[in-house]
Amino acid sequence: MHYSNFGLSNTKRLLTCALRDAYAVPAFNFYNMETLNAILNAAEITQSPIILAVSESALEYMGDDILMGMIAGAKYKKNQIALHLDHGHSFESCKHAINLGFSSVMFDGSALPLADNIKISRRVADYAHKFDVSVETELGVLSGFEDENTQSESHAYTDPDIVKNFINLTKTDSLAIAIGTSHGAYKRKNNNESLRFDILKQIAKNIPNTPLVLHGASTIPQKYINTINKFGGNMENAYGIAPTQIRHAISLHIAKVNFDSDLRLAFTGAVREYLFKHKNDFNPRDYLSRAKNEMTKHCIDIIQNIMGSGFKI
Ligand code: G3H
Ligand code: 13P
Ligand code: ZN
Repeated sequence: MHYSNFGLSNTKRLLTCALRDAYAVPAFNFYNMETLNAILNAAEITQSPIILAVSESALEYMGDDILMGMIAGAKYKKNQIALHLDHGHSFESCKHAINLGFSSVMFDGSALPLADNIKISRRVADYAHKFDVSVETELGVLSGFEDENTQSESHAYTDPDIVKNFINLTKTDSLAIAIGTSHGAYKRKNNNESLRFDILKQIAKNIPNTPLVLHGASTIPQKYINTINKFGGNMENAYGIAPTQIRHAISLHIAKVNFDSDLRLAFTGAVREYLFKHKNDFNPRDYLSRAKNEMTKHCIDIIQNIMGSGFKI
């Protein structure tokens, strides 16, 4: 099935508008009906373009048919919403998503030798472009998590000197870069560490027509960490990227910003609080609806106060 049959937008189109008007489109990860619903509610309330991001593991969790059935049944404006494969790790995985009806895919070859990253990125682009599907690629390595508890220190900032050649050779549409963000909830020792805006400026200068993407951008709101810790959780020393840093990155050419951890925190905090306060309740709809609403509220906050993407459709 082609993505246009679902009324989904070409992702490049959303990002080109964002680049032109100096705002960013949020990519929010989802993995079930509640999280999809929460994000689409925020999109509708704010009239914002949104990228619905599905990781390989989220796709496996939902299953092809349930996911595409939910997308087919969802209500949104034509050309407001893109459906995006997040961190596809192989040509086959990207091809599979394109054939399902995704409007963009990320091929993440950032851990591969450069020559292999270029080769597979180009192969994905050649296939995707036949269907007018856009492709995000990545250069540089974000530090991150092997699992929920182990932080990997290894990262490599994107080299501004190779980005132009990379885009020319791969013919891909947007580029994820490493300037100091990282995946997960434990990105920072505090809220004040700065991203490498000097590198971002160089990259933007070298590929001014390519929308740039910031992964690992969650702000890790301390109100959610406090709620989680207050109601039975244990997430000490979790810090994220300050909203001012993300806004500055957007002013310097970032057109897509990825959020997953923040939404998980909003959701989990609400579930923990509800169950802690209602010890006899065992109806999942009671706590899931609260979690969904909290996630919608946080998506709205990101859209209005960080992305600047409200009323852009
Ligand atoms: O960047 C990765 C996302 O946070 C996806 O994580 O594989 O647990 O869905 P996941
Ligand atoms: P966070 O873990 O910072 O939310 O990053 C999510 C992400 O980059 C998804 O691709
Ligand atoms: Zn990511």
